[in-house]
Amino acid sequence: MSTTTGQNPLETRLVAALEDFRQQGVYKRLNHLDSPQAARVRMEGRGEVIILSSNNYLGLSNEPAVVEAGKRSLERYGAGTGSVRFICGTFTVHRELERALARLVGTESSLSFVSAWNANEALPATVLTEDDLVLSDQLNHASIIDGVRLAKSITKCQTGVYKHGDLDDLRAKLAAASDRRVKMVITDGVFSMEGSIAPLPALKQLCREHDAVLVVDDSHATGVLGPTGRGTAEHFGMLGEIDVITSTLGKALGGAAGGFVAASEALCDYLTQRARPQLFSNALPPTVAASALASVEFLEAHPERVTTLRDNANYFRDRLQALGFKPLAGETPIVPVIIGETADAIRMSDMLLDEGVFVTGFGFPVVPQGTARVRCQVSAAHTRADLDEALAAFAKVGRKLGLI
Ligand SMILES: Cc1ncc(COP(=O)(O)O)c(C=O)c1O
Repeated sequence: MSTTTGQNPLETRLVAALEDFRQQGVYKRLNHLDSPQAARVRMEGRGEVIILSSNNYLGLSNEPAVVEAGKRSLERYGAGTGSVRFICGTFTVHRELERALARLVGTESSLSFVSAWNANEALPATVLTEDDLVLSDQLNHASIIDGVRLAKSITKCQTGVYKHGDLDDLRAKLAAASDRRVKMVITDGVFSMEGSIAPLPALKQLCREHDAVLVVDDSHATGVLGPTGRGTAEHFGMLGEIDVITSTLGKALGGAAGGFVAASEALCDYLTQRARPQLFSNALPPTVAASALASVEFLEAHPERVTTLRDNANYFRDRLQALGFKPLAGETPIVPVIIGETADAIRMSDMLLDEGVFVTGFGFPVVPQGTARVRCQVSAAHTRADLDEALAAFAKVGRKLGLI
């Protein structure tokens, strides 16, 4: 097999597809940063730009206590884990982190993974069997979709998708599955492309009626929703009532990497025993675990960061509306503006970048055809001056494109 680009059938196909992406204006160009994730970042070839597309919701990725904890951990534990946890030992910082995460989100226990993607892939494929059923919201994150596909292929469990947020559809599908031993319902807590919140009280009630297990992926809600940032459950006053929570350490909790499953002691122990990503892949680097632990402790000590985040999000959404844009309504710091075609959304994000604002355009296949959008994400790290500057750029670009 030749290694020269374009010389074998695979390379030929990939090169043609990449060219096609460019022609269609949907090719994703990576922007290289040379500074920490903060309200403003230094972008190669652009200088300083306001970042409005980071999941660093609380501004913790650059918080001194969080960075220091990582440094101290590097000195104490070294760079790596050496192998998987059950083979060569597990660091005490992982145990501390898992206790803190369980405390934060209101469960008995938790288990960390190298990413929330990994956690979502591990969960259904490990705990379900061919007697069971898993139902997933239509707009769930790709990691849940793939986790459900994996579960079907490994365990032969039944799978299904219910219409987004449609309780009647979910009810009908649960009612039709009375022969299933375990019924699992999985939903995002906050839908990342919409910024909308799952109707948790009604979902929980439905799950109770049908003896189903409710799993909530709170990746965009941990540190964000609820008066003290404990997530979607806290937002609805339901802390401690959700069977299983999965979430990420790569967004509000320091933004490095990592994920977790938070649930009962038994479920987390079972995942420790049987989840393939636990058994066959290294754990989180101890530096990352320590920074994430420091993030949780910071959040617990500084709930006012969550208030700042909420105030900033409300301010930005209101002002964007006042300019004449029609962002999707919502209560989260995710503020999407629907543009339509993918190429148009990417063009708008390029024009915003020319004005010094980094906000990403999303199109198919990340969102359905015809609903491409620029998705703004507000952070507690933004000052009002940052947000006003970004809004001025939106006004200029919006007028040029005839959107306002
Ligand atoms: C809802 C949801 N779940 C899971 C993930 C994956 O998170 P991680 O980066 O930790 O793999 C994301 C990240 O985009 C997400 O938005």
